[in-house]
Amino acid sequence: MCGIVGIVGREVVAERLVDGLRRLEYRGYDSAGLAGLVDGRIERRRAEGKLQALADLIAAEPLGGVTGIGHTRWATHGAPNTVNAHPHATEHVAVVHNGIIENFRELKDELVARGHVFESETDSEVVAHLVSDGIDNGLSPQDAVAAALRKLRGAFALAMLFAGRDGLLIGARRGSPLAVGFGEGEMFLGSDALALSSWTRRVLYLEEGDWVVLSKAGAQVFDHEDRPAERSIRTVALSPSQIEKGNFRHYMQKEIFEQPQVIGDAIATYLDPATRLPRLPEGGPDWRAVSRLTIVACGTSYYAALVAKYWFEQMARLPAEVDIASEFRYREAPLPTGGAALFVSQSGETADTLAALRYARSQGQFIVALVNVPESSMAREADLVLPILAGPEIGVASTKAFTCQLAVIMCLVLAVARARGTLDGEEEARLCAALSEVPARALEVLNHDEKIREIAGWLSEARDVLYLGRGVTFPVALEGALKLKEISYIHAEGYAAGELKHGPIALIDEQVPVIVLAPHGPLFEKTVSNMQEVLARGGRVVLLSDTKGIATEGRHAAEIIELPVVHAFVTPLLYAIPVQLLAYHTAVAKGTDVDQPRNLAKSVTVE
Ligand code: G6P
Repeated sequence: MCGIVGIVGREVVAERLVDGLRRLEYRGYDSAGLAGLVDGRIERRRAEGKLQALADLIAAEPLGGVTGIGHTRWATHGAPNTVNAHPHATEHVAVVHNGIIENFRELKDELVARGHVFESETDSEVVAHLVSDGIDNGLSPQDAVAAALRKLRGAFALAMLFAGRDGLLIGARRGSPLAVGFGEGEMFLGSDALALSSWTRRVLYLEEGDWVVLSKAGAQVFDHEDRPAERSIRTVALSPSQIEKGNFRHYMQKEIFEQPQVIGDAIATYLDPATRLPRLPEGGPDWRAVSRLTIVACGTSYYAALVAKYWFEQMARLPAEVDIASEFRYREAPLPTGGAALFVSQSGETADTLAALRYARSQGQFIVALVNVPESSMAREADLVLPILAGPEIGVASTKAFTCQLAVIMCLVLAVARARGTLDGEEEARLCAALSEVPARALEVLNHDEKIREIAGWLSEARDVLYLGRGVTFPVALEGALKLKEISYIHAEGYAAGELKHGPIALIDEQVPVIVLAPHGPLFEKTVSNMQEVLARGGRVVLLSDTKGIATEGRHAAEIIELPVVHAFVTPLLYAIPVQLLAYHTAVAKGTDVDQPRNLAKSVTVE
């Protein structure tokens, strides 16, 4: 969750470190800091709050050093203040850390007993003292790090800078990603390739348990048993336009508007344009023999997984169980012999989802990872990887990754249905055609932006908002409520429309807007009768439906958003867009920090 950068450079690196951190700020933004080596001594600058506070501090009190490390924090242990901000340092070493050191209390007690004085409440500071202890005992930085790593438990990525050792950085990866960048006479470390994108495209990804010694001349990688290891250098294709806001006010807005394009890219990859049939990468299981599919994810990805359950069951007649990763990983669920498990994750690094994947592997499941970051841990550990091709998603609240996940899942379901012979040819053709049409229909939906902005004006006055959906739009109702909560801080809940009368109806009065997602189709009448129950109690309804639905029921709603008529199965891809826009404009109306909402982080690499 925290962001890490490091540079072994040729000239003063402070400003470039801040620049690298800007691209990582989505990982956490409650405090930030840098350390540089000035005349062989470690100097630090740290600031509470957003990265800009650190940039201002550096402008006022410049930091020297051609070798340096930087960090943007999402607090786990200790409040987000300057003392707890990274880097943590002793006279010998400065450390930035992402993750959690699980045994930090016992290590800290031992070190305190040996005279070490700690200044922060963090678990991370223990790493600085542990390495420092080794150096005090005559070890080289390299040996001190190797000894310290053997004592640490937990998941982490680390970058370290050493007093008196200009041109040396050491990084380590266990459970949290870390990339090494190769420049011209310079070397870089970063939590992901995005951080390094304006400096180099030549990147090496450390593998689990690796640690690396960086000098101007290059990098030497060691594996988890401290043996020198060869890791390949790849060229990553990230263009600056992918990580800039362009003419948009926020990344989230840009990413919402990119959806027709990126959904189109995903569909073009997974649906053969000539035959209009699904095409998946080689190497999947024999889907006819798979008895049950387990689907696991967190957050927005979990809601994509819930849609997947409906699709797998209805189109491919494959029983599917969906679970939240933090529950699944500890539940010790029995998994069937010959089963398959699908892990859905934008980052491919979410700690709980990764642990769930490892559990499923230990139970002999065939592992499919659906990720946006093809170099991620989940992608490396899966038997089959399906990249969702959404491009970098920077806004903390996920938008385009959700719809791309849905597009790729639908292609997967179509391929599985074909393998299992559960769809007749005509229906398969209808579904493929419906999916191919989504980018064009998504463009039409975006035309409602202004109308949605007006509705958001009064939504922003609400204290609570309910979202109702049925069937495949039920998970979209959940996602709509999550989006609103995340960025506008308005309490919102998504409900299966049929559950309304089992509780949430008690909340309804004139003050509670109810967003009803009701495409015209087999479940329309049912959802409409739930909408009537809301109206009968004075609730204010925003109805999202299509021409047919609006024609019959639109007059009852306080507001309507008219969406294109599409096949029922693809409605989640389109209904996701207005709920994203509703949340976006509500947040803008409330003046909240849309791209970096309070307390959240994009990539949750701790439990
Ligand atoms: C965090 C992010 C969400 C995301 C969730 C799962 O909570 O703020 O936007 O949906 O993690 O992340 P993943 O990378 O596994 O999809």
